[in-house]
Amino acid sequence: MKIAVIGTGYVGLVTGTCFAETGNRVICCDIDEEKIEGLNLGRMPIYEPGLETLVDKNTKQGRLRFTTNIKEAVRASDVIFIAVGTPMSRTGNADLSFVKEAAETIGKHLNGYKIIVNKSTVPVGTGRLVASIVRHHAKGNVAFDVVSNPEFLREGEAVRDTMQMERAVIGTDSSRAFEIMEEIHRPFRTKIIHTSIETAEMIKYAANAFLATKLSFINDIALICERVGADVDQVSEGIGADSRIGKSFLQAGIGYGGSCFPKDTAALHYLAKINGFDFKMLEAAIETNFRQREDFVAKIEKTLGSLEGKVISVLGLSFKPNTNDVRYAPSLDVIPMLREKGAMVKAFDPAAISRAKRQLGYQCSYTDDIYEAIQNTDACAILTDWDEVKSLDLNKVKNLLKEPVIIDGRNVFDLDVMAQLGFTYVSIGRPA
Ligand code: UGA
Repeated sequence: MKIAVIGTGYVGLVTGTCFAETGNRVICCDIDEEKIEGLNLGRMPIYEPGLETLVDKNTKQGRLRFTTNIKEAVRASDVIFIAVGTPMSRTGNADLSFVKEAAETIGKHLNGYKIIVNKSTVPVGTGRLVASIVRHHAKGNVAFDVVSNPEFLREGEAVRDTMQMERAVIGTDSSRAFEIMEEIHRPFRTKIIHTSIETAEMIKYAANAFLATKLSFINDIALICERVGADVDQVSEGIGADSRIGKSFLQAGIGYGGSCFPKDTAALHYLAKINGFDFKMLEAAIETNFRQREDFVAKIEKTLGSLEGKVISVLGLSFKPNTNDVRYAPSLDVIPMLREKGAMVKAFDPAAISRAKRQLGYQCSYTDDIYEAIQNTDACAILTDWDEVKSLDLNKVKNLLKEPVIIDGRNVFDLDVMAQLGFTYVSIGRPA
C-alpha cells in the first residue's frame, strides 16, 4: 500500500514508521523544513525508545521517506493519514486549523480515489468536516472516503504500543475503505473494531477521559487515605486485583500532564457543553488534577514551616519519565507556585531542560546532574519518576541536603526504608 502521513509529531512519525515496517511504502510529510531535513539525516525530533532504529532500517530499505512536498505525497498515495496537532484553544475546544489546512491540501491535489484517515484526536463531527473541505477543494467528481482511526499510543512506549496495538478502531461507513484499512492493520494481528466515524471519534475522547478520571479518582482516594491513616498504594493493589477494575492507572501522584489528557478532557467537556450536557464528573476529574499540584506545594510548605527564602530541588521537569515533553507537566505549575511563595528552585531533568526552559525561563536554575540539584537545598521535591530518581543513593542525598526532607509526588520510595534512614518523607496518600 502507498501511504502518506501528514504531520511528523509523535503520532505521525511513529505511525508512518510502523506502517513502513509492516511492508507499506510510506511518505511522511511536514511543513517544518528543519524537522524534515533532520529526519533525512537520521536525526529524531522526539525522544522515543526504538524509533531511531526503525526509521534507519526502513529508510535504508526504501520503504520510508520524508518530505515537505505534501502535494507530491498526496498524489503518490492511496491512503493519506492526517496526524497533525490539535492543540487546546482558549475555549477548551480543540483547535482544528492544522486539520483543516491538511484537508484543503488533500482536496486540491486529489488525483483519484483515496482514503483520508483522521489520526489526530478531533472532536466528534470532524470526519464529516474533513470530507466537506476535501469535496469543496477537489476538482471534478473524484471519489474518496474519510475514515476515523484514532491513536492510542503512549509517549515513551509509542513504538511498542503501535507494533503491538491492543485494538484498532476503524470508523467508516464505506466498505471499500474499511477493507483497505483492515488490510493495513492485518500485520498487527489486532482486534478490529468497526464503527461509524462519529463513534470512532467518541471512543478516543472517552478512552482518555476515562483514564484521566480513573487517575483523579485514585488521587481523591489518596487524599482521604492521608486523613484516615490508610495507604493508597495498598488500596490500589487491593482494588486493582479485581479484573473489573484493573491495576493500571491507579498510581496515585501529583496528577496527569502531557499533550493528551489535559487537552482531551477539556475538549470533551466543551463538546458535552455545546451539546447541552454539563459533564460534572469530568469537570471534577479536571479540578482534582489541578488540586493535586496545589496540595503538593502545600505539603512542602507545611513540612518546612514556610517557603520564604528556602531552596527546593525539583527532580523531574517532563510530565512523565522517558520523554522530553513538558506539555502540561506538573513542573510548569509547581515551580511558579514555589516561587510565588518565596522559594528558590534548582531543577533536575535528564532530557527536558531545554524544553522546560522555554516555558519557565529564569524561574529556576537547571542541571542534568541530580546530586548537584540536591546539594545544599532545604528539601527535595520529586515530580517525575525518572530512573535517576528511583536509583538515588539515599545516604548521599541525606548528606547533601541541609535537612533530610523529601516530598515525593510519585511515591517512589519505601516508607520503612525512608524511616530507617531518618528522612522526613512525605508522599501521596501514605502515612507520613
Ligand atoms: C495517553 C494515553 O495513555 C494514550 O493511550 C493516548 O493514545 C495518548 O494519551 C494520546 O491521546 O495521544 P500519554 O499522554 O503518552 O498517553 O501518557 P500516559 O502514559 O498515559 O500518562 C499520562 C499521565 O498520567 C502522565 O502524567 C503520568 O505520569 C500520569 N499517570 C499515569 C499517573 O499519574 N499514574 C498512573 O497510574 C498512570
